[in-house]
Amino acid sequence: MTNLILAPIRINQLALANRMIVPAMVTRLSGEDGLVNQAIIDRYTRFSRGEVGLIVVEATAVHQSKSGPLLRLGSDEFIAGHRDLVQRIHDNGPSKAALQIIHFLKIARSGWRQTVDMLSKDEVKAIIQAYGDAAARAREAGYDAVELHMAHAYTLSSFLSAHNKRRDEYGGRSLETRLRVPSEVMLQVRARVGKDYPIGVRFDAEECIKDGYGLNDAKYIALRLAQLGADYVSLSAGGKFEDAKLEPGEAPYPYTGYSGDRTMPPASFQDAPNVYLAAGIKAFFAAQGQTHTKIVTTGKIRTPSDGDAILQAGQADMIGFARALLADPDMPKKARLNREHTIVRCVYGNVCKQLDENFKQVRCGSLWPREFLHAPEAPNDDIAPVWPADGASISAKLNEDGRVRVTWKAAIDPQGVYGYEIFCAVNGGEFQHLSSLLTTNYVDETALAGNAYQYRVRAYDFAGNRSLDSAIAEIVVPAPFAADADVLKVR
Ligand SMILES: Cc1cc2nc3c(=O)[nH]c(=O)nc-3n(C[C@H](O)[C@H](O)[C@H](O)COP(=O)(O)O)c2cc1C
Ligand code: SF4
Repeated sequence: MTNLILAPIRINQLALANRMIVPAMVTRLSGEDGLVNQAIIDRYTRFSRGEVGLIVVEATAVHQSKSGPLLRLGSDEFIAGHRDLVQRIHDNGPSKAALQIIHFLKIARSGWRQTVDMLSKDEVKAIIQAYGDAAARAREAGYDAVELHMAHAYTLSSFLSAHNKRRDEYGGRSLETRLRVPSEVMLQVRARVGKDYPIGVRFDAEECIKDGYGLNDAKYIALRLAQLGADYVSLSAGGKFEDAKLEPGEAPYPYTGYSGDRTMPPASFQDAPNVYLAAGIKAFFAAQGQTHTKIVTTGKIRTPSDGDAILQAGQADMIGFARALLADPDMPKKARLNREHTIVRCVYGNVCKQLDENFKQVRCGSLWPREFLHAPEAPNDDIAPVWPADGASISAKLNEDGRVRVTWKAAIDPQGVYGYEIFCAVNGGEFQHLSSLLTTNYVDETALAGNAYQYRVRAYDFAGNRSLDSAIAEIVVPAPFAADADVLKVR
């Protein structure tokens, strides 16, 4: 079967080398000045060397106000930095670059936040204008496409929301009035960038909050955007203030509630929990004869193979991998070279999300070596790590608190060992990947009394080359828990 995910695709006039996308991911690498700097260039050129089809550069403010470390494009002085960034992305690999542009409302540490019903009509007009201006600047800077941020907790998403409390023609009385500002933005941007320039729109296909909208409305939002000439819709979910945790003295962060988990599904969630939204819109588009606008789905899609299965099933046209590509930007290249087994796998523990929340530089805080601001790179290394001559000496013991602690010896690699993958089989079943880590020990909090657990590990290096599997450590968790329970069998 053809590997669809590696097949080229066209968005408007733009040809992409494959159907993998880095969706926008705020990096917190720019300063308060909002300017492109070397760290930003290094982050995005790394993706380009990894050969992803489209890089959507992080949410960039269309307005002038400062908001911590966030890129800006609210005036012409910012264009030069973006031009340099795009040039460097193109110079480093086959990736095309889109810029996500965003408008957000005011928010205070007291917990107060501005909502769309507080905006005067002039302010609304200014927002529409600001989107048009920023899109024109993005084109001038050389971006291959522009993406309008209409998702999560931000201004345009709040107009679309079923919680929009305005009562005028921009208000929440009907889907038509909720869509009015986003539609005017779309028209304004199209007028400014021209017919042939690719425009994408990111929006929530489900708000994931009580009384929020879901797929039924999302189909028609997508249809309207398509009818207005959106070249792709990138579907997200949740990320709302309505269910955000409120901490005294802290501005609320819209990804702290359940809706935030739907935006960045954590390890405890099933894989690809939001794909049904793309599938629903794709089927609706087919019924409506809408073929121009491509559909991007994102959310805990782990590997190119998993993404390919979604494409083969006709559930989407392109796949967004955010954290998986942060963890290993070389994933598309590895897929092209048939080396998917060397991908360094994201564990979806969301340390990167916490860094974003705390306005700290976003990096893969679980897998990258501590001092690394960007993903490790070892293009010419095909020598796999090996275990010491006497093996990994893996053992599994019961801690006093009833959790199983697995330890092993460090592996050896000429260019350095990067990390370890741990696998577990329960009662003789299949081995499953439990986690990946930098250290030589792991504590399993899920082992249940009365069951047999087998563990084995594999080391990997910076290129993702894997060692052989270690021996197996086995433990039958006794009931009741006893501190003296020990390794039962090591093969
Ligand atoms: C650190 C971080 C920053 C993000 N910043 C943005 C952003 O600027 N704009 C946006 O639309 N989504 C943003 N997202 C959401 C991602 O684009 C993506 O939808 C989400 O992580 C789910 O995809 P994944 O499971 O492949 O990571 C961010 C996610 C993370 C982890
Ligand atoms: S910090 Fe965790 S969730 Fe984020 S990219 Fe790294 S492994 Fe994935």
